[in-house]
Amino acid sequence: MDSDFGLLICITCLMVLLHFRNFVVSNKPQVPCYFIFGDSLFDAGNNNQLDTKWKANYPPYGIDFPKGHTGRFTNGRTTADIIGQTLGFNEFIPTYATATDDQISKGVNYASGGAGILDKTGAHNGDRFSLYKQMIHHNSTISRISRIQKNTTFLKECIYVINIGMNDYINNYFAKAPGYRYDSSELLSTEDYTDVLMVQYYRQLKVLYNLGGRKVALFGLDQLGCTPLIVKRWILKGRPCQLLVSDAVYVFNNKLKTLVEGLNKDKPDARFTFINTTSILQEKKGATVTPPSLPIPTKKKKLPDYTKYFARSCCPVKDKDDWQCIADSVPCPTRTTSTFFDSVHPTEPTNIAIATRSYKALLPTDVYPYDIHQLTEVKH
Ligand SMILES: *[C@@H]1O[C@H](CO)[C@@H](O)[C@H](O)[C@H]1NC(C)=O
Ligand SMILES: *[C@@H]1O[C@H](CO)[C@@H](O)[C@H](O)[C@H]1NC(C)=O
Ligand SMILES: *[C@@H]1O[C@H](CO)[C@@H](O)[C@H](O)[C@H]1NC(C)=O
Repeated sequence: MDSDFGLLICITCLMVLLHFRNFVVSNKPQVPCYFIFGDSLFDAGNNNQLDTKWKANYPPYGIDFPKGHTGRFTNGRTTADIIGQTLGFNEFIPTYATATDDQISKGVNYASGGAGILDKTGAHNGDRFSLYKQMIHHNSTISRISRIQKNTTFLKECIYVINIGMNDYINNYFAKAPGYRYDSSELLSTEDYTDVLMVQYYRQLKVLYNLGGRKVALFGLDQLGCTPLIVKRWILKGRPCQLLVSDAVYVFNNKLKTLVEGLNKDKPDARFTFINTTSILQEKKGATVTPPSLPIPTKKKKLPDYTKYFARSCCPVKDKDDWQCIADSVPCPTRTTSTFFDSVHPTEPTNIAIATRSYKALLPTDVYPYDIHQLTEVKH
């Protein structure tokens, strides 16, 4: 009887083991590694150890995330997290400060809340890792990887995602920061300022290329002019979006697309692509988007469910100039139908929409010229 029971346990164990092995095998990632760069939209805790007010390692951030408040600036997973899972990574990509030798060859997350393309961006609020700094960190990672394994050819097969530029507008060009002066908007027109951003962005992308990056997705800006922060900061007389900011977003996205075109010409062995979040968040088609679509900036008056969804953050914030959730506050219960979690950052359902359609484009305007799935299929 006892031995029968033992045998039964043994067989069960074996079956579980086999099942587990299948599970692991079928979940082999589509690419060997996945590196993440950017600002708070992609940050997974890089700011936790920095001297800055811009952190999200407290509740209610992370209320829908399995590990709770990790430093992600949303209620659940970021867009970068969801893309990683779609690529088949079982674990979330670790932050730069915490990544171990065993982990780094599968990827590192360098994104930092408040960071910009320009080093100066976000300076009024404390430390952050600018895009330049993130490339320095990536350089260290690559040196570390080449100490562990001699052959680093696999880096060409990896996916690299970058989501940056938002802070260069809201925390530089359009910033009203007491005690700190950004002179960019006094010196330069939106066009010229955006050109400065592109020159610096291009420089950093060449560094990434020189460090082996060949499959790179660059995320355009979403409709910053329609975020609760910007809407509350300006008096908009019932208009859904701040047009000055929306125009800047439009200029940035067009120039980023041109940059991608130029890079694909200059570096024929690499694939760069532009992700059009405006397109993704505007059209609800395909039923992948549960939260309401973002309005297209217009001079028209109020949109029907405008104040209900966009103009409002899901968590309470201190005042109109603050975008962060108040610590330990109770967020809205309807997170699946809210576009924004705090006054700037999307909810997880919004991130799911962006991740799903950047991985597999639904409309021709979603990506240019490749979606991330197409990048995974390129062989070097
Ligand atoms: C990367 O680091 C190496 C030293 O490890 C240095 O020689 C090289 O210039 C660095 N490259 C960049 C782009 O920072
Ligand atoms: C490195 O590995 C790739 C395959 O992953 C192989 O084609 C290449 O020849 C290797 N390079 C060296 C120097 O061993
Ligand atoms: C992004 O998509 C929107 C909506 O379809 C479109 O109007 C816009 O031109 C696209 N932006 C770029 C830079 O292609």
